[in-house]
Amino acid sequence: MRILSGIRPSGTLHLGNYIGAIQQWLGLQREHEVYYMVADLHAITTPYDPKTFQAQIRDVVADYLAAGLDPKHATIFVQSHVPEHTQLMWVLSSLTPTGELNRMTQYKDKLRGGALANAGLLTYPILMAADILAYRAECGPVGEDQVQHVELARDLAKRFNRMFGKTFPEPQPLLSQGKRIMSLKEPDKKMSKTNDDGIALTDAPAVIQRKIAKAVTATRGGGTSAGVENLFLMLRTFAEPNVVGRFERAERDGAIKYAELKTALAEAIVHHFAPFRKRRKEILADATALDRVLTDGARRARLIAGETLAAGYTTIGLR
Ligand code: TRP
Repeated sequence: MRILSGIRPSGTLHLGNYIGAIQQWLGLQREHEVYYMVADLHAITTPYDPKTFQAQIRDVVADYLAAGLDPKHATIFVQSHVPEHTQLMWVLSSLTPTGELNRMTQYKDKLRGGALANAGLLTYPILMAADILAYRAECGPVGEDQVQHVELARDLAKRFNRMFGKTFPEPQPLLSQGKRIMSLKEPDKKMSKTNDDGIALTDAPAVIQRKIAKAVTATRGGGTSAGVENLFLMLRTFAEPNVVGRFERAERDGAIKYAELKTALAEAIVHHFAPFRKRRKEILADATALDRVLTDGARRARLIAGETLAAGYTTIGLR
C-alpha cells in the first residue's frame, strides 16, 4: 500500500503528535511504501514568522528522524520542494465546488477562532487532496480533525475518474489508533502546539516535570476526571507495566496520591524520550546530512509526483 501523511511545521511537535501520528508512522514504514512530508505550504495559511520558518521546518524533520523515521524506508521531504503538489492542486481546484469548501469544519472553526478568511485557508483541503493523489496514495493516516479532508480527496479522485477515466485510487483516511492526548490544563481540549501546556518532544526533564505537576486532576462530583484519565493514558503509553499496575490498583482502592502518579509519569516520559533528545541534537548539528535527506527525499517524491502529474495533464487534454 502507498501512504502519504504530513504535519504542519507550526510549532514544536508534542506528545499528542507523537502518540497520534509518529508512533503509527513508525509501524507503517516497515510494511508499506510511505511518504512523510512537512506541510510548509499548509502552514503559511495562518500567521507565521518567515524569519524562523526554515528553522521550524528543519526542526520537524529532525523530530521525524530522531523519532526513528528512516530515510531508507520512508521518503521524507518538504512539501514545497515538490512543485507538482501545487500544480496538481490547480487541476483539482477546477473539480471542486466552492460550496464544499465553505462547509469544511476545520475552515469554519478557524474562522470562528478569528483567522482571516484568505483563499489559502479555504482551498487548504484541495492542496491536501493533491498531496495524497500526487502519489496515488491509498490512504492518509490522520487525526479525527482531518478525516473530512481525506474524504474530499476521495470525492475528488472519484470525480476525476468519472469525468476523465480511471486515474486515481480512492484514498481512505487511516485513523490513528492511539487515543488522543488531551491538554493538561483543560482536559476537554486536545493537547496542542499553541497551548503552553503541551509537552514538546524536546522539553527538558525539568520542564516536563513542571508541566505534569501542574496538570489538572480535580474531579467534579466524584468519579475519575478527564484529567486523571489523560494522565493514565500517558502512563500506559510510557511507563513500565508494573508501574501502571501499581497506580491502577491504587486508583481502584481509592488510595491513589496524584502527586506520586505525576512524579512517576514525568519520570517515564523523561526516560522514554532521552534517546530522542540526544539523537535530535546530533541530527541538527549536522546540517549537511539533514540537507541530504531532504534533497534525496524531494528527488524520490518528484519521481512519483511528476509521473502522476504528466499522466494527469495528458488525461485532461493539457498535453
Ligand atoms: N492538514 C494536515 C494537518 O494539519 C497535514 C497534512 C497536509 C496532511 N497534507 C496532508 C495529512 C496529506 C495527511 C495527508 O494535520
